[in-house]
Amino acid sequence: MEEKNPLLQVVDLSVDFRLNRKTALHAVRNVSFDLYRGETLGIVGESGCGKSVTCMSILQLNPASRTRYPSGQILFEGRDLLHMKQKQLRPIRGNEIAMVFQEPMTAMNPLFTIGDQLMEALRVHNPRMEKAEAYERSLEAVRSVKIPNPERILKSYPFTLSGGMRQRVMIAMAMITRPKLLICDEPTTALDVTIQAQVLDLMNELKQTHGTSIIFITHDLGVISEMADRVLIMYGGRVCEEADVDELFTAPRHPYTQGLIDSHPSPDYEGERLKVIPGSVPTLRDMPAGCPFNNRCAYATDACRDVFPDFEEAAPSHVVACHNWRAAKTEGGKAE
Ligand SMILES: Nc1ncnc2c1ncn2[C@@H]1O[C@H](COP(=O)(O)OP(=O)(O)OP(=O)(O)O)[C@@H](O)[C@H]1O
Ligand SMILES: [Mg+2]
Repeated sequence: MEEKNPLLQVVDLSVDFRLNRKTALHAVRNVSFDLYRGETLGIVGESGCGKSVTCMSILQLNPASRTRYPSGQILFEGRDLLHMKQKQLRPIRGNEIAMVFQEPMTAMNPLFTIGDQLMEALRVHNPRMEKAEAYERSLEAVRSVKIPNPERILKSYPFTLSGGMRQRVMIAMAMITRPKLLICDEPTTALDVTIQAQVLDLMNELKQTHGTSIIFITHDLGVISEMADRVLIMYGGRVCEEADVDELFTAPRHPYTQGLIDSHPSPDYEGERLKVIPGSVPTLRDMPAGCPFNNRCAYATDACRDVFPDFEEAAPSHVVACHNWRAAKTEGGKAE
């Protein structure tokens, strides 16, 4: 990336959740990444690895009563969002940074028409905007997500739409303020495959048109290869590898990433048996010391059970946190 300043810099983010007066769980540990303008960063990892908590931290959306010691920095154009007051965050939330979630019904008000909600999303941040202009912008937003008969959609209520249509409306709602950053948390997981492909195409198109930066969370590697420029692999609340998307698929270095890729059917999949990663993700309560993947890893040594490894550069702009990535590189059997 030639550009000097990233749009977003997450620096050493850690988040704990308080369970009771004595116990806190480490949900996210020392997560760092940069996101440049117009770039899509995919975040991948199994359920519970901290993807959503990381992204919710960007807009301080983790439940305040349970969140303890969020530490580190989240710099958005240089401003630290993690330690910002709610009042300062309000003009950024839903305006400069917007989110799209898996289940659009929870983000929509069933009692208002789509048109009312789109216009409201716009006017919250532009209180002086005339109603007529807000209507025109809403119409344009619905058109831009390729919904047929946009005038009629503006008059309808969310429950009258199909899942795919609702997700398009959510994207229209998120994009209506032309955010610089769009955070998508499993936005297409609930949709069937063809509808999912249409929604992903649409998002790529909007990104091209508006130069929006996107953080895209998913556990589907197929979706990542369609969407991401760079990929962050997370495991047990930590980042274990980060690379450009092509590099990640052709030369994965972390044994966990190798396992993920081996267990995913490739496009030229011809019915050969997929490998599975032995064991299962430990819960936060019984996360092992050292590298969280050590109890499932074929390369684990004493060092892995002792300390979490530093990041090492496996190739230009490709980092991996594994004591034994060199051994995994030769034995992992990936393209070399
Ligand atoms: N509000 C909360 N209170 C307590 N623990 C939480 C809270 N939110 C998340 N966690 C815990 O933090 C860990 C990380 O959760 P997170 O939601 O980020 O996972 P995820 O990677 O998004 O998983 P999924 O793929 O299932 O969405 C999990 O162990 C989860 O149980
Ligand atoms: Mg999640």
